Amino acid sequence: MRIIHLSDLHFPTKLGITTLRGKSLLGYGNYFLRRKVKYPENLWTGLVTYLSQMSYDALLITGDLTNVSHPIEFERAYQNLAPLLDNKAFLIPGNHDRYKKEALAPEPLFEKFFGEWMGEVVGLRAFVRKKVIKDYVMLGWDSNKPMPPLVASGYVEPEVFSISKPILQKEKVILLCHHPLWNPGKKIESRSHRLKNRQEVAKFLSENPPLVYLHGHTHTNWFKEPGPILPFPVVNSASSSRLTDNAHHSGFHLIQISAKGIQVERHVFVEGTWQETALQRFQESEGVV
Ligand SMILES: [Fe+2]
Ligand SMILES: [Fe+2]
Repeated sequence: MRIIHLSDLHFPTKLGITTLRGKSLLGYGNYFLRRKVKYPENLWTGLVTYLSQMSYDALLITGDLTNVSHPIEFERAYQNLAPLLDNKAFLIPGNHDRYKKEALAPEPLFEKFFGEWMGEVVGLRAFVRKKVIKDYVMLGWDSNKPMPPLVASGYVEPEVFSISKPILQKEKVILLCHHPLWNPGKKIESRSHRLKNRQEVAKFLSENPPLVYLHGHTHTNWFKEPGPILPFPVVNSASSSRLTDNAHHSGFHLIQISAKGIQVERHVFVEGTWQETALQRFQESEGVV
């Protein structure tokens, strides 16, 4: 089983200032101006070509396709992703795709544009989606809700646990959720950025482990080895469409699952070309749950 994991594509999209209000205006100023330079177009077009030459069974994306959940951003994200959207694709939203109430009602915009690649609905009230590819279950959780300005925290609803438990106990599960469960270093993420019930999620998954947990949200790549608290690998592929710099290890991961176990490769855009590079590999004890 060969899995490509991308995250946090945040395609920079020019929006009319008059179409933005409140939080969106603030967010647009913040993200568009900063991100335009960091997310060059040749990096993305190069990635589409690079992936077209790789063989894989699943293409998984853990959210943040947009910046302020504007319909024009969703349209742009759809056009950029179109060459990769086939029956191997499975996508979940990130907090930037649920940025404000209008992104969810009257019609959820993420579902409007990407519903075809979001698998089947498992939970009616809570967001749990699944897609079976080659005997493996891709299980998607939505940890995002519209929040006040400058808040990017997430939450996994109690129903998500009860719906997911029998699937995690019976199937070979690749779990996707936008927010991290573990961070390298001594400090957990700030309260305004992290999964609010992270300890509860960690306890649930330690008792009902997936084969691997895929996420994004914090924009630098890492791979956490299975450990005593989270007995499965954790992979962060954010941000796959961004240039690498001193503070951000960007790129994507190729995850291979076989009888030998799980092997992970990291690929990065350097001087105009995509290539394999060293994993940002950590033991669980080198960070915090
Ligand atoms: Fe992000
Ligand atoms: Fe995020």
